[in-house]
Amino acid sequence: MTAANNSMAPLDKSAQVSVIGAGTMGAGIAQVAAAYGHPVILFDQNPEAIQRGLDHIKKGLQGQVKRGKMTEEALEALLSNITPATDIAALADCKLVIEAIIEDLGIKRGLLANLEATCSDDCILASNTSSISVTALGAEMKHPERLVGMHFFNPAPIMKLVEIVSGLATSETVAAQTHATASAWGKQAVFTKSTPGFIVNRVARPFYAESLRIEEEGGADIATLDQLIKGAGGFRMGPFELMDLIGHDVNYAVTCSVFDAYYQDPRFLPSLTQKALVECGRLGRKSGYGFYDYSEGAEKLAAKTFTGGNAPEAVQVVGDLGVANALVERIAAKEINVEKQASDSESYIKVGSARLCLTDGRFATEVAAAGNHNTAVFDLAIDYSSASSLAVAFADQCNEEAKQDVIGLFNALEINLSVIDDIPGLVVMRTVAMLANEASDAVNQGVCTAADADIAMRGGVNYPKGPLAWTDEVGVAKIFNCLSNLQQCYGEDRYRPSALIRRKFFAGATFHG
Ligand code: NAI
Repeated sequence: MTAANNSMAPLDKSAQVSVIGAGTMGAGIAQVAAAYGHPVILFDQNPEAIQRGLDHIKKGLQGQVKRGKMTEEALEALLSNITPATDIAALADCKLVIEAIIEDLGIKRGLLANLEATCSDDCILASNTSSISVTALGAEMKHPERLVGMHFFNPAPIMKLVEIVSGLATSETVAAQTHATASAWGKQAVFTKSTPGFIVNRVARPFYAESLRIEEEGGADIATLDQLIKGAGGFRMGPFELMDLIGHDVNYAVTCSVFDAYYQDPRFLPSLTQKALVECGRLGRKSGYGFYDYSEGAEKLAAKTFTGGNAPEAVQVVGDLGVANALVERIAAKEINVEKQASDSESYIKVGSARLCLTDGRFATEVAAAGNHNTAVFDLAIDYSSASSLAVAFADQCNEEAKQDVIGLFNALEINLSVIDDIPGLVVMRTVAMLANEASDAVNQGVCTAADADIAMRGGVNYPKGPLAWTDEVGVAKIFNCLSNLQQCYGEDRYRPSALIRRKFFAGATFHG
């Protein structure tokens, strides 16, 4: 089933919906269902939790009223759609029950057994679990076909994405109707098979893992990496800032759970740096210290940028730079003379005595050894015409004069240049290639479609582009080549190219038509 062929009608507005668990997620989900117009029962075993949940919803909505985004009447109407309950018998007439209780397989199974005994046969039972297999949740149910995962993201009223998760026994009709209902509620719903991490928590692992690894290898410091991921990659937050916000206990636990669930596939290997932060209680913003120090008066770490050199009068562009052609336009816009030279076999910018190539996943040192000693490689940018930062690495053989030629060029372009150590694939290219590799494997394994993988990463974690659409734009060949070279540089299975990327490359095909 895909979004495109999902012709199922959503649940009617008049259908009774219940949310079980009035905590962080449950309260938000109840608000979403009530905003659509459903009569919603908010159930929790703890009456105080229900009151806290209702207060939380009211406070959020009052903020919207203050900002003029909602009328007082709409607020009252929404709240009047939510009825509290502590007796499960109140759920007898529900058409959809979404559980958002504690993340514990045994306790969730117990609840599902109670729900089967209470609710009518046509009631869909949904779980907001983020890490438990929907197949395992349904294992003791009489009718596991009516159980589906409905994975919202925090905060549920704001985050667009809902992963509709099918266990082995989930009926297609149930998944399709749940998808249609989430869509009617204004969410972007995607279908996924119940596999560890579903889509988002699986595909997002390299976003953290690659930067952690580059930092561990002394490639660049955390502030520089955060700046590059934002200023060149176009992501809203850098990986270190984001891990500090999520909390290292939470982020590390998700990484370990995905790693274990995939039988220790090296691609998901957790980081020792993050483990150490958890061990010493530096959990991020919530504990006042993580990668960054949040205590009052603490010195803010700053990204390292390089200035110097002189603006060149002219550069030579050899061959077709593909996705980096916009960089050439940016050079020309600064009234630097661009002389173009055709080549089918090479592509680079010659500035002074330096040869500047887009990274292909090899060390700059390795590229230099195969030809020009004064080689520098530059990183991928989401948009070279507006990128505020960019990473460059110099080959070990590169002389000082050539380095200054490269630095002078980027300074002339008003780009914050970070000269990082010679790390294969640099920062953005390597991160995007690894995100795409994971998304491609998920598609290859039938976990989701390419379209849903991209929607999920944009809607669930606000990526600026879906990793597979990004691959199409950069070129499947470049991403495949980068992964193959990374695998060779490190000799690790972690970087093995997804079979589907390899196949697309040989077919000359893309992920999106
Ligand atoms: P929470 O701890 O804020 O709330 C859980 C609520 O469930 C509490 O009010 C508790 O009283 C109630 N509860 C516990 N056992 C119960 C039972 N047997 N019957 C009725 N009520 C019961 O938890 P949170 O963060 O809202 O998470 C809930 C679920 O949502 C978990 O499965 C979690 O994995 C999932 N999730 C959490 C996200 C997050 O960012 N917090 C994101 C996406 C999913």
